[in-house]
Amino acid sequence: MIDDLFANDDSILRQWQEPLAKDAVVLRGFAYDEAQALLQHITAIAEAAPFRHFVIPNGHTMSIAMTNCGTFGWTSNEQGYRYTETDPMSGQAWPQIPTIFLQIAQQAAHRAGFSHFIPNACLINRYHPGARLSLHQDKDEMDFSHPIVSVSLGLPATFLFGGLQREQPCQRVTLTHGDIVVWGGDSRLCYHGVLPLKDGIAPSPLQDNVRYNLTFRHVSRH
Ligand code: SIN
Ligand code: FE2
Repeated sequence: MIDDLFANDDSILRQWQEPLAKDAVVLRGFAYDEAQALLQHITAIAEAAPFRHFVIPNGHTMSIAMTNCGTFGWTSNEQGYRYTETDPMSGQAWPQIPTIFLQIAQQAAHRAGFSHFIPNACLINRYHPGARLSLHQDKDEMDFSHPIVSVSLGLPATFLFGGLQREQPCQRVTLTHGDIVVWGGDSRLCYHGVLPLKDGIAPSPLQDNVRYNLTFRHVSRH
């Protein structure tokens, strides 16, 4: 009987949901089975649009390295943050979002209650030990009717998820390989960040001290 209930589908055992706030949820293990394919695509994207450490308007260089795929890519320099249709390093369009990225992002959004998510931007973050992302809101997209879908790969990280004001307390959520966080609706502009990455060895095939994060967004033309 127990055997029947759990059949042979391991993903049933590896996937569950943890609500974070209204319109925000952690989908545990949701991208686990596709993780290897996602990592292969990240490698291919980074060959066309290499990872780089952006400078931010206060003059500091970000500790995480970034690249993008999609119609729009997030960029930063001393003047400010903005989405661009071309990679400032090459002057070329950003690589296209691979179909499997779109499928996972849309399935995750759907599972979280956002059925009409059409991502046109995917920011790819790479963390090595010590790299962090300070508390911020994702608000450069201009259109807040679409959620943010965030896929974690590689080493675990402590994700901070706060409220609509910076001063509000944050929940601390450990995100591991294959986890997805979706936040939209009333939570779309919630502050969030990532604590400094701890050293470790990421799951196969990475086997390296690295974490990748994909965030899917819908950017309106501006
Ligand atoms: C982000 O806020 O853009 C990325 C969050 C993460 O790396 O988990
Ligand atoms: Fe963010």
